[in-house]
Amino acid sequence: MAALGSAGRFFHFARSSVGLTVRRRSTAAALAQNAAPESQENRKPKTGILMLNMGGPEKLEDVHDFLLRLFMDTDLMKLPVQNKLGPFIAKRRTPKIQEQYSKIGGGSPIRRWTSMQGEGMVKLLDEASPDTAPHKFYIGFRYVNPLTEEAIEEMEKDGVERAVAFTQYPQYSCSTTGSSLNAIYRYYRNRGDRPKMRWSVIDRWPTHPLLVECFTEHIRNELLKFPEDKRDDVVILFSAHSLPMAVVNRGDPYPQEVGATVQRVMERLGHCNPYRLVWQSRVGPMAWLGPQTDEVIKGLSERGKKNILLVPIAFTSDHIETLHELDIEYAQVLAEECGVENIRRAESLNGNPLFMKALADLVQSHLKSNEPCSRQLTLRCPLCTNPTCGETKAFFASQKLS
Ligand code: FES
Repeated sequence: MAALGSAGRFFHFARSSVGLTVRRRSTAAALAQNAAPESQENRKPKTGILMLNMGGPEKLEDVHDFLLRLFMDTDLMKLPVQNKLGPFIAKRRTPKIQEQYSKIGGGSPIRRWTSMQGEGMVKLLDEASPDTAPHKFYIGFRYVNPLTEEAIEEMEKDGVERAVAFTQYPQYSCSTTGSSLNAIYRYYRNRGDRPKMRWSVIDRWPTHPLLVECFTEHIRNELLKFPEDKRDDVVILFSAHSLPMAVVNRGDPYPQEVGATVQRVMERLGHCNPYRLVWQSRVGPMAWLGPQTDEVIKGLSERGKKNILLVPIAFTSDHIETLHELDIEYAQVLAEECGVENIRRAESLNGNPLFMKALADLVQSHLKSNEPCSRQLTLRCPLCTNPTCGETKAFFASQKLS
């Protein structure tokens, strides 16, 4: 998934290039870099919301450690002699990845966007749910600072009573949300300690109405930017990070959940245009879930469909797969090669206030439900071979919330 994507990008970058005519959306990365720094008032929180994501290197110097953690994550990928091969690959690839981050402004904007989203969410929650206030958000990244483990320590130190592990991936995969939840479970297992906080988890939200509304709004806005006489001809390509078929075939729920988001968005759009769900960032010789985004752009163009709208549907903030892979590799280089007439990319949800409302609504309803996790989280992939998954699920499902 997105995490695999970083592994993927790491191979992808070799064939990317920049500098062609830009026919795409505004520079969200630049906006993020200029966003206000995160600031939460000093407060003793009753409810802590841990926003989980993979994270991305903020600076070029962070790239190596980011890759190292990624290639050492056994929940994400299994490599032969991982403790030797992981560091070797991370070191060897660092210069290339740094070069690519330098082309999107010198680093990932994900921390700034997450902080902005967290601020907005907490403000709304304090107003809407005084019983569970004060609320405070924490960021728990898997591969860069602030790391999940450090965030948990901070929450414990702050005296949080009620902790919500809130995945920022709307659609669940064991490679992304599953890896972050395993990290929380391992934190307590390694300390041999029971949590002082009462934990619960928002583990998926692929069809939340406000999420659907945000995507719909961004698609409509972008469609309006196509020449009027071409608008009806636009093919909407919902692009999500691909997964190795080995992961899909063990029963990972991600493809179905991404499909569910797409379906709801198209219903909300009144099926205004034809569309496909396509998958990006494949890497290596293994079989991956397809069709691949780049091959679809090429195939459509060959069949005379030369007006295309790309919609990142499985990640809510801008990241390297939107800013580099979609915007540069596909919307500039590939589109030029294929003779695509108009190609645009819908904005990521980033600083959309409606998205902050969606986050607040998810947390508020979750707290009201008094459920530790979804029923779906309790089921392991039918062909899962990672024992930690079972322990993590039991950990969350057994939390006593009252
Ligand atoms: S890999 Fe899905 S539950 Fe373990």
